[in-house]
Amino acid sequence: MRLTSAVAALFLAGAAGAAGAGAGVVQENRTTVWDGVYTAEQAARGQAVYNRHCLGCHQADFSGTEEASPLAGGAFMQAWREDTVGNLYTRIRNLMPFDEPATLSDAAYLDSVAYLLQVNGFPAGPRELTAAGAADTRIEAEDGPGDVPSFALVSVVGCLARGDDATWVLTRATRAVRTDDPSESSPEALAARAGQPPGTRTFELMAVYPDPAAHAGHTIEAKGFLIRSPDGDRINVSTLGMVSDACGP
Ligand code: HEC
Repeated sequence: MRLTSAVAALFLAGAAGAAGAGAGVVQENRTTVWDGVYTAEQAARGQAVYNRHCLGCHQADFSGTEEASPLAGGAFMQAWREDTVGNLYTRIRNLMPFDEPATLSDAAYLDSVAYLLQVNGFPAGPRELTAAGAADTRIEAEDGPGDVPSFALVSVVGCLARGDDATWVLTRATRAVRTDDPSESSPEALAARAGQPPGTRTFELMAVYPDPAAHAGHTIEAKGFLIRSPDGDRINVSTLGMVSDACGP
């Protein structure tokens, strides 16, 4: 935890506040897999890539094997919902085919992603999927965004408070959103979060060190692995960053 550097960030927060409010709005207009982000032709090319380079392990029905992940249906959605197509593409490009990773062209990898989107029931559209377009496209169910699944790396903003049994919790917290980066957010990103309205959730913070007592009552961003449990959701903390030295109304 490096709250000290985040405190310096706080002095920049005022200046960036207006931009921060804007950033929250942009997120609402996000592209999703329901917006037709690949073409039918691209998916057809992707099918050829799949049959040649992926099917051997992931199977003709995409069910996978004990080792190779299923690539369609409920298991696929469980693994990827609320993540981006860009992350799916990057994982495939860097790690697949498992026995000879990163051996295909970027275009072939993008085509294979287009095919997986088609197989999972997301509609084709007028434009081909590109790496840049993929990065901006969120994977979500048809009825809109849901909760990020357990074990995802997430970011949450809330009010730091004492929980039961000497634990620390974030109260009035936002819903957990996926992040790619476990390290502390930039001063600009932390400042941007200050403009967001408080949420309604509570997360228990695990593995918080050193003791963050000096920041009780402050608005904090926690990043780490989300652990959902019937007793309440927890975050196995990688970093904390200070958003504001007060908690919102
Ligand atoms: C030699 C077998 C093999 C081949 C060929 C293969 N995969 Fe995989 N794939 C695996 C295994 C094993 C895993 C699980 C890896 C892990 O858990 O780290 C996996 C995982 C994945 C995942 C999930 C990755 C994640 O981060 O959760 C995707 C998506 C995927 N493969 C897509 C593909 C695509 C697309 C191709 C063809 C371009 C392909 N795979 C070819 C064996 C294979």
